[in-house]
Amino acid sequence: MMEQQSLRSSQWFARDGKDGFIYRAWLKKQGIPAHELEGKPIIGICNTWSELTPCNSHFRELAESVKRGVLEAGGYPLEFPVMSLGETLIKPTAMLYRNLVSMDVEESIRANPLDGVVLLCGCDKTTPALVMGACSVNIPSIVVSGGAMLTGRHMGRSIGTSDIWRFSEELRSGKMTSEELALAEAGMCRSDGHCAVMGTASTMACMVEALGLSLPQNAAIPAPDAARKVLAHLSGIEIVKMVRENRCLSDILNRAAFENAIMVNAAIGGSTNFVIHLLAIAGRIGVKLDLQDIDTWSSNIPLIANLQPSGLYFMEDLYYAGGLPAVMNALLPHLHKECMTVNGKTIATNYQYAPNYNKEVVSSLETPFNAVSGIVVLKGNICEQGAVIKPSAASPELMQHTGKAVVFEDIDDYKRRIDDPALDVDETSVLVLKNAGPIGYPGMPEVGNLGLPAKLLAKGVKDMVRISDGRMSGTGFGTVVLHVSPEAAAGGTLAILQDGDMITLDVQGKRLHVDLPMEEINHRKEKLLPNYPKAIRGYVQLYQLHVEQAHLGADLDFLKGGSGSEVTRDSH
Ligand code: FES
Repeated sequence: MMEQQSLRSSQWFARDGKDGFIYRAWLKKQGIPAHELEGKPIIGICNTWSELTPCNSHFRELAESVKRGVLEAGGYPLEFPVMSLGETLIKPTAMLYRNLVSMDVEESIRANPLDGVVLLCGCDKTTPALVMGACSVNIPSIVVSGGAMLTGRHMGRSIGTSDIWRFSEELRSGKMTSEELALAEAGMCRSDGHCAVMGTASTMACMVEALGLSLPQNAAIPAPDAARKVLAHLSGIEIVKMVRENRCLSDILNRAAFENAIMVNAAIGGSTNFVIHLLAIAGRIGVKLDLQDIDTWSSNIPLIANLQPSGLYFMEDLYYAGGLPAVMNALLPHLHKECMTVNGKTIATNYQYAPNYNKEVVSSLETPFNAVSGIVVLKGNICEQGAVIKPSAASPELMQHTGKAVVFEDIDDYKRRIDDPALDVDETSVLVLKNAGPIGYPGMPEVGNLGLPAKLLAKGVKDMVRISDGRMSGTGFGTVVLHVSPEAAAGGTLAILQDGDMITLDVQGKRLHVDLPMEEINHRKEKLLPNYPKAIRGYVQLYQLHVEQAHLGADLDFLKGGSGSEVTRDSH
């Protein structure tokens, strides 16, 4: 064990005179005895509890479990709130506020007398936001995820968030009634927790475990399972040890840890949103990682977790099969086994004996569910800086496809015209959506898996090639090209596409191309006029002025890197 460092919190609580008096006296009004502030590690519990974030509505109880662990280990817990982001309620899109929350987290940690911090994360955006903010401070930190909800039930079968897209199309094509949809709505979310499939929230929970930022099994224990509270309690014990051993985020998050996370994400069929969040986290901790790395480190990894939307099962099933440890055990031949994790043990030590209880849910490298997995990075004259597609959620017959563009200038234009019987579209067309990027929407909403035209749904068409500079819900699926960079609002080639342009998607060749001569592209670009809403004040204006493009992680340019934990000015 490393020698105990002097506690950061002692800069507050070990002071004499007026300053120490002020720091201590107001804490004591909460009934805290003096000895708790004398040399014990002070552990912040960064809580994203909110009734407006239904996926995190059980976090007060989870925080109590963390506190018990902190106290048991000889630390003292102090819980604090940060802005919470509920994917379903926040308008216009939770992604607009990910970077704002990361600022809240960073400044809250640095400004307060904390020696370590437990990050209570759930839903999609609070995980990357909290990890990004914590990375920019870099004190000992551990993640406790909220866990997925129990699998939904509807008319005798299991359902999860991915079914919403199916229900929507069945309703539009007349195969489902409004009454049946109401029944499904009542059966979808049966318990505490986040979406029950391998959507973005589950992907983020897997990401933090693969990076080494949580205890093993963090990813898949269901929210209502008592084991989730046990994990929170044990994490409370662990963070006190991390402070005593001075194990900071930068001791865990090296380049190899990020490569491990990319490989695990491929094996589980994780969300495309993983790309943007991982790049942003790497940017904060100072690890050099780019979009191409996602493709490179995904490319040899098959799909070994059989989870919706790429497969059949739900997060609850993954836990019963052995959880993420079963996946990481199967992947060990590829993983960087020497990577350090929050508990001071390596990936090899944590996962080498992890059992697999159900080969229908977690398979092996030798017998994967799909040889195709991961996230493929496309390049071409539509996306000079890249775009992404998730092949395991796409249709094999569309992976190589050329078709005529049907172009929508923005999501409102799409909504107005998609079901117009006169729309010149067939199943070979390529649907193109502009102005759904970080600047153009703004905030890069999850609209990329555009619903198909009603007249084609009625014909039984189930998938078409769709292209946009937006994102897609991790629960979504289809042959959907996302994150086109540069986005239309930044003057990317996407902005000049017109109806009838011939577009080729070649996933194997990693290419996305419009059949136009360069002179024509340049000619159209010269005539381009800005065609997106510009904020004139406040955070949204700051965001539009400073957000980076998707291929860089869509962080604000001035937030990259970190400022450490030192407070350089002291007004007391
Ligand atoms: Fe929170 Fe799906 S809405 S995880």
